[in-house]
Amino acid sequence: MKFYVTTPIYYVNDRPHIGHVYTTTIADIVARYHRLCGDDVFFLTGTDEHAAKVVESAAQRGLTPQQWADQNAQAFQETFKKLGIANDDFIRTSEDRHKTKVQQYVGELLQSGDVYLGEYEGWYDAGQEEYLPENKAKEYEFKSPFNGKPLVRKAEKNYFFRLSRYAEPLLQRIADQPDFIQPNERRNEVVNRIREGLNDVPISRTGAGDWGIKVPGDDAHTIYVWIDALINYLSTVDTPERSKYWPADVHLLAKDILWFHAVIWPAMLLALKRPLPAHVYAHGFWISEGQKMSKSLGNFIDLERIDRYVADYGLDALRYYLASNGPLAANDSDFAEAKFIEVYNTDLANELGNLVNRALSMLNRYRQGVVPQTTTADLRAEAEKTFTVYRTSMDKLDLTGALAEVRLFVIRANRYVEENAPWKLAKAPEQAARLDAVLYNLLEAVRLISVALLPVMPTIAGQMRTQLGVGEFTGKLPEELAWGRLPAGTKIGTVAPLFPKKV
Ligand code: MSP
Repeated sequence: MKFYVTTPIYYVNDRPHIGHVYTTTIADIVARYHRLCGDDVFFLTGTDEHAAKVVESAAQRGLTPQQWADQNAQAFQETFKKLGIANDDFIRTSEDRHKTKVQQYVGELLQSGDVYLGEYEGWYDAGQEEYLPENKAKEYEFKSPFNGKPLVRKAEKNYFFRLSRYAEPLLQRIADQPDFIQPNERRNEVVNRIREGLNDVPISRTGAGDWGIKVPGDDAHTIYVWIDALINYLSTVDTPERSKYWPADVHLLAKDILWFHAVIWPAMLLALKRPLPAHVYAHGFWISEGQKMSKSLGNFIDLERIDRYVADYGLDALRYYLASNGPLAANDSDFAEAKFIEVYNTDLANELGNLVNRALSMLNRYRQGVVPQTTTADLRAEAEKTFTVYRTSMDKLDLTGALAEVRLFVIRANRYVEENAPWKLAKAPEQAARLDAVLYNLLEAVRLISVALLPVMPTIAGQMRTQLGVGEFTGKLPEELAWGRLPAGTKIGTVAPLFPKKV
């Protein structure tokens, strides 16, 4: 099966921070999970480059917009590479392969009458580069909900997209497929807003200079950056080799940009007569030490901080924290350093690290590091339940739920050690078969846990496998999550702590 997952394409004017890293890491975990299941995966991220702010920032630095965009796109690419993100492509909207497709699709929409030339007057948020509907402008007291600056009354001749045509088809789609927009809270918000009515939306602006994509046949008009940006998801795979990936299986993003993804983009696709993505998933926001992250507070969890966590605790610990404690559901999550350290010490060092270490050390001590034979499968039923829940959770993007389940199994396996006290069994020769069984069950639990953690902590899971002597993972995840695949006679590798304890 094919599986196509996307992240938003990030504004090239920003420095990468924990928000960008989060969505991209979640997408990476989902992509790795599907690859391990044997799917033909395409994972796309990239940068959104045609905003007016890019022209301003470049000018302030004496650079061309392209030079400035090149520098910053590279910063995003390097960051993601450093953070172990295994994306299959990185799309930049200033690339020709994207620009030609945008013109092609907008041309199609002009032909079909879904895009037309009209006049628009309304309340414009210059920072966000978007018009606010009259009722929203009033609600925000004619100030930007993002930066508090006054909205400006603006009139212009524009090309419009006939969004008004698509309210009914969109509502129908959401009714037919309730998990199209997730989580549920977000779907309900979108449905309510569509029911308030949809107006046509301007999709071009004038006077934008050369930075941007022109409306085909009318060079005075530049295609509005949001329309240009949304198209990346399709333009990147609209080639003979990649067309099999469309429609996307999931667009991942945060709640700030859900409207564009759940309403405008699907309506554009309906107008283009292209299949709609299977899911649009909008997670919540990270806040920082209890406060919203903002430029004015200067409290972004920025790259310097991220680098420090990676240096001190390892990249996989950060990935685990993001996935297990992040705002995947409707609520926001607080990124607090103390909490991160607590999760490292508890879930990783005390629970997982300790389990692996004691299981392998006891095998060395009592069986010269060779996995014994047994037919007693004490933990089998619990393992089966754990990994069934794990898989259904992963399949529906509930990474937090999947990891919570794995963690319970780690705790269970640690308790199994206490209950069976192998150190006592080792003293009684008539208990040899029982000791074989206990050791096998523990090591098999460790193997299963390593398989489940591969998408989230690829390096740690790899180390677990090396220490266990089972080598690099080459199988398929669903099969490898079945009980009893650890062969008796396996000689384990060198045992070393996975998570050095921190204070
Ligand atoms: N360029 C547009 C997206 C176009 S997609 C066709 C954009 N860019 S952005 O750089 O502002 O990125 C927004 C996205 O970054 C959010 O939707 C989310 O994925 C991520 N995050 C930014 N801040 C975040 C948090 N504080 N918490 C979690 N994720 C956040 O919007």
